[in-house]
Amino acid sequence: MENKIIEIQNLQKNYRVGTEIVSALRGVNLTINAGEFVAIMGASGSGKSTLLNILGCLDKPTAGDYWLDGKNVNVLKKDQLADIRNTKIGFVFQSYNLLPRTTALENVELPLLYNPKISIKMRREKAEHALEAVGLADRMKHLSNQMSGGQQQRVAIARSLVNDPVIVLADEATGNLDTKTSYEIMALFQELNDKGITIGFVTHEPDIAAFTNRNIVFRDGRLIKDIQMNKITNVVDALDQLKDEDTLLDEFVNVCVA
Ligand SMILES: Nc1ncnc2c1ncn2[C@@H]1O[C@H](COP(=O)(O)OP(=O)(O)OP(=O)(O)O)[C@@H](O)[C@H]1O
Ligand SMILES: [Mg+2]
Repeated sequence: MENKIIEIQNLQKNYRVGTEIVSALRGVNLTINAGEFVAIMGASGSGKSTLLNILGCLDKPTAGDYWLDGKNVNVLKKDQLADIRNTKIGFVFQSYNLLPRTTALENVELPLLYNPKISIKMRREKAEHALEAVGLADRMKHLSNQMSGGQQQRVAIARSLVNDPVIVLADEATGNLDTKTSYEIMALFQELNDKGITIGFVTHEPDIAAFTNRNIVFRDGRLIKDIQMNKITNVVDALDQLKDEDTLLDEFVNVCVA
């Protein structure tokens, strides 16, 4: 039997703006199973972030049902929601959202501070392990403002993993990065997914969505397409191709200068 991580039925979200009601989600049905890597796509304003915030228990729907890891989220109180969010969900944002002037290690330890069952020693070990998993073993003591955008996003990914969440939710996680760095971050997500981590990944970019194994598309608050990707682009190949293009560009510049 498939292990459902996320199941939503007829999910609706309305925002009141002055006297107007904005219908951001208009009856969405969706199931995400363990081990899936799902790209959530659609034009600006189509409801992607609204959906992600509800899936991540940052916001509540106006109507409809939501089960997270088999638990009915609708019935939970605010502090129970916060608890679920801290233990079951990992978030990655476009602008990294790291604490400034704070080391990578301390940033990654942060979600564990809320867990009284975890000792200081365990906290440090888990954070080190998460930073190793994202390839930053040699940057643990660096301050967040002493790192490149790609490295900062790796720290944010390590932070999202440190609690062993049932799903990692990313909102435009490559939106601030150049193509090569974006692909490197996608290589990391593919690697994490290969290890069994379930991922929901909002993106505008079709080339980024091509690295995932399922694409769902929103329009005006409705899910209009749900495509299983049977030909997933391998990021390592895509990176190699980018390198070839870089070499060609270098040669071209050299020819022009000669
Ligand atoms: N807090 C809010 N109050 C009022 N309306 C909102 C709020 N958040 C979102 N909306 C509206 O809900 C709709 C969906 O917004 P949402 O942020 O989910 O879109 P999106 O698909 O993530 O867009 P983008 O690609 O630009 O990030 C939009 O019409 C938006 O204006
Ligand atoms: Mg958005």
